[in-house]
Amino acid sequence: MTKDLLGLEETSEKEIRFFLDSTETFKEVLSRPIKKVPTLRGKTIVTLFYEPSTRTRMSFELAGKRMGADVSNIAVSGSSIEKGESLKDTIRTIEAMGTDLIIIRHGKAGAPHLAAKTTNACVINAGDGAHEHPTQGLLDLFTIQEKKGKIAGLHVLIVGDIAHSRVARSDIWGLTKMGAKVTVCGPPTLIPVEIAKMGVSVSYDLNSVLSSADVIYVLRLQLERQKKGLFPSIQEYIQYYAITKERLAQAKTDALIMHPGPMNIGLEITEEVAASIHSAIQEQVFNGVAIRMAVLNYLLGGKEHEVDS
Ligand code: CP
Repeated sequence: MTKDLLGLEETSEKEIRFFLDSTETFKEVLSRPIKKVPTLRGKTIVTLFYEPSTRTRMSFELAGKRMGADVSNIAVSGSSIEKGESLKDTIRTIEAMGTDLIIIRHGKAGAPHLAAKTTNACVINAGDGAHEHPTQGLLDLFTIQEKKGKIAGLHVLIVGDIAHSRVARSDIWGLTKMGAKVTVCGPPTLIPVEIAKMGVSVSYDLNSVLSSADVIYVLRLQLERQKKGLFPSIQEYIQYYAITKERLAQAKTDALIMHPGPMNIGLEITEEVAASIHSAIQEQVFNGVAIRMAVLNYLLGGKEHEVDS
């Protein structure tokens, strides 16, 4: 890996394994009465989000602060980006203030890669268009491993809006590298034909694939990114693809339900399913802080750094 974390496509199985193993250590730190280690004392981290976020931005901020770093947040609203400052100039300005690591979310695929080329600071991709969201992928892998005891050999079913989902792409890269079998399922208009080249099976019939899934990963229907009607109606989507109590009854008795959030409750998933004993959605959020501590430690603290020194 380079100085940056831009995607799981370019992250090796060994590196993914290292992130998952070191996340265990940081979860232990987060269970202590004082949830702090001095690993990143003196380091400066900036989050630069061109799109909204609750989980990713807050968990990176908490992760940095719990490791002793100084963390600043820049949102588009209220910054000089509103005056037309370019991405490159914004990155150079942030670097000039002595920043060690920039976490960027952007609506355009490739924006974090441009940022990484522009600066000597480390860059983490916190979501770029429909391309990748690598730390979401890592926290999903960690949560699956924690709940199921393994990843290799599991059948993971990813349901819904594959076309617009950076989470789906990072999960597919990560899961296939770790030996899981992945099926994507949704309306044909929301599944790009080239997705099969990523080594996944494709199904348009949810009822035919539900019963063999160990993990049912429900995606948010990204209505804000859809410029044209890609399915006839919301009611029709719910009828064929929503994860409901009735559909969950067709799944394995120990099937795990996951969702990256934010959820459209009553659309792609019901409240009942999201709150059921099958659901690992809250664990995903909880694990988000520890996985991001592991990533910050790797990029800024060094692989060999003692966590609890
Ligand atoms: N899963 C995820 O990226 O959530 P946020 O948009 O709240 O960061």
